[in-house]
Amino acid sequence: MTKIQTVRGMHDIWGDEARLYSHIIEAANKVARLNNFDYLQTPIVEFSALFERNLGETSDVVMKEIYRFPDRSEEANMLALRPEFTASVARFMIESGLYGQSMPQKFFSYGPLFRYDRPQKGRYRQFHQINFEMFGLPGGESDIECLRIAKQTVDAILLYDGWRYETLGKNIAPTLLINFLGDKDIRDRYCAVLRDYFQKYKDNMSPENVARIDDNPLRILDSKLDREIINSAPQITEQYTQEYKDYVQKVMSDLNKMGIVASHDSSLVRGLDYYNDMVFEFVIREQNGGSTTILGGGRYDKLISQISGETVAPLNAIGFAAGVERLMLLLRDKYDPQYKNINKVAIIPVGDTLQHCYDILRQLHEADIVGEISYYGGKLGSKIEKFERRGFTWVVFCGDDEIKKGQVKLKNLVTKKEDDVAFSIDPSLSKVAEAIKSYQ
Ligand code: HAM
Repeated sequence: MTKIQTVRGMHDIWGDEARLYSHIIEAANKVARLNNFDYLQTPIVEFSALFERNLGETSDVVMKEIYRFPDRSEEANMLALRPEFTASVARFMIESGLYGQSMPQKFFSYGPLFRYDRPQKGRYRQFHQINFEMFGLPGGESDIECLRIAKQTVDAILLYDGWRYETLGKNIAPTLLINFLGDKDIRDRYCAVLRDYFQKYKDNMSPENVARIDDNPLRILDSKLDREIINSAPQITEQYTQEYKDYVQKVMSDLNKMGIVASHDSSLVRGLDYYNDMVFEFVIREQNGGSTTILGGGRYDKLISQISGETVAPLNAIGFAAGVERLMLLLRDKYDPQYKNINKVAIIPVGDTLQHCYDILRQLHEADIVGEISYYGGKLGSKIEKFERRGFTWVVFCGDDEIKKGQVKLKNLVTKKEDDVAFSIDPSLSKVAEAIKSYQ
């Protein structure tokens, strides 16, 4: 019989990990709100064709990573657990009719995604992304606006409470890599050059990459195999026209003006096929010489039209997604999320004071303080010990005699100091929340 446990590549998120997860989602949500993005929740299950036809037939995601299954009642319908958000958001633009309305339209999403990948550190079969998409902004403008928001998101997650990359150490500071994949003409010319190049080396290449030479030689550049041959391949920049060089130059210099440091990396192609023109990634350089991508994105102006079966005109589109688990790993050893050292308050009735305990709890919650009531029975000493073990820092003893005097006893479990504090049903006269807050 199968042992009941988590499925390979899937994981529970709880405790400190869950606090980091919440921090990341909250920080991204705030960036989305400040930049006027709408929250969009798409279904986890979509028709598999949405991804199979649009992410690239020769991409790893489509070739080997989609969780695909027939619908229970209509077996002809092949469904998929979503491997990413972008295709779903583009589908939503068409289905909702928003593509025909005033632009720009901007959407923020987050949630679980599924890829049948080889599980390893930072790579899971169920993972989470925060995802930003923008439609209808003009070309060059959308590039720098997207990079600005991506940088704002990364900083909001990695830096808070006055932290700076210099303080946190080099290996948490992400590097921004950008590449420009050209328009269709440039890409077609480049693919022809690449085909000729890889044909010459095909006897020494992996079958997986040889199979891509005719259909999609660009995809080979993203492969982990055959690196020596790939590293010496011709560069796309050799195919740029003067006009295209000017566009690249303008984006790089505008970024510079905004103080965003970026490197042009002409080997960056990304693992999905819908991109055109600018693509980018934020990577963390590891001490062992490797690197981890925490965020990736780019322009995909043809996707909406392609998904609609060309019934809708192309629409400028750009976006990015960051891997929540990768950010969690990065943050985990660096510093405690602010939520960890939070004040937690135990309210213990001593006598018949449950009603007052309830009033105190309500006042604490209104003041955004974590609190629990310890209801019935048990010895006071062992109750306090249990709370201490669970990381509680305060106890409010709510006794009949004190309540009659309009007071409760407040004990700090760390300093062991006890004080009588004014309590009233009227929150403006009650000092319990105030006394605790003054320690935060
Ligand atoms: P992606 O590069 O496939 O792009 O994924 C974005 C990020 O998700 C990666 O940089 C990585 O941090 C995280 N990620 C991907 N696969 C896994 C995995 N198996 N386990 C853990 N984390 C993972 C996209 O998904 C595009 N839809 C991004 C985009 C949005 N482009 C335009 N708009």
